[in-house]
Amino acid sequence: MNKLLYLVALFFAAVQVQAATLPGDWAKWTAVKTPLMEAGGALPGCGADVSSLPPIYQETVKVYCGVKPGGPGKVGILVRPEAMTAYAARNGKFPDGANLILHLKDIKAVFLTTHQGGKPSYSVHTEEGKDVTAASGPLAASACVTCHTGYQAFCKGGQCGAKK
Ligand code: HEC
Repeated sequence: MNKLLYLVALFFAAVQVQAATLPGDWAKWTAVKTPLMEAGGALPGCGADVSSLPPIYQETVKVYCGVKPGGPGKVGILVRPEAMTAYAARNGKFPDGANLILHLKDIKAVFLTTHQGGKPSYSVHTEEGKDVTAASGPLAASACVTCHTGYQAFCKGGQCGAKK
């Protein structure tokens, strides 16, 4: 490999590692209440009637209902204290680093949104912090982007929910 290519590869490898680090103190971040919590604090299963929910929530149920029989179950949203101002203001002005978590409590998975220069990136972890982001399917970073960046009118700077 030529030297430049090698440096480029190294750069992307470094970014990758940084984007996928779950801080050890994540469980102590600030828990927030959002519309998802209002809906019972759990993601419904595939049989649920979600026709009254906003399209992005219907889509979320469609993507994740089958992860576990009966639905993925209990969820919690955690915000890094330093990111709380941006989260509450919903202005996308997130500090660099791991900022937002969707905790799928029943399946013990941590969905993480990390910002770098205001740009969001997505990863999936075990509660112990292991990066288990998939290459394809609903647990792939590309799936997160489809929703979190695709519904631009709904999500802001990678943040879809809002504090109630
Ligand atoms: C089909 C749509 C959809 C997909 C796919 C999706 N999300 Fe979300 N996500 C949402 C919605 C809607 C919320 C807001 C829920 C609420 O708080 O009411 C949310 C909330 C979150 C939150 C809490 C902070 C916020 O943005 O409100 C994180 C963190 C998160 N998702 C990460 C991920 C990751 C990582 C992936 C990919 C593995 C992913 N999401 C895939 C729709 C989606």
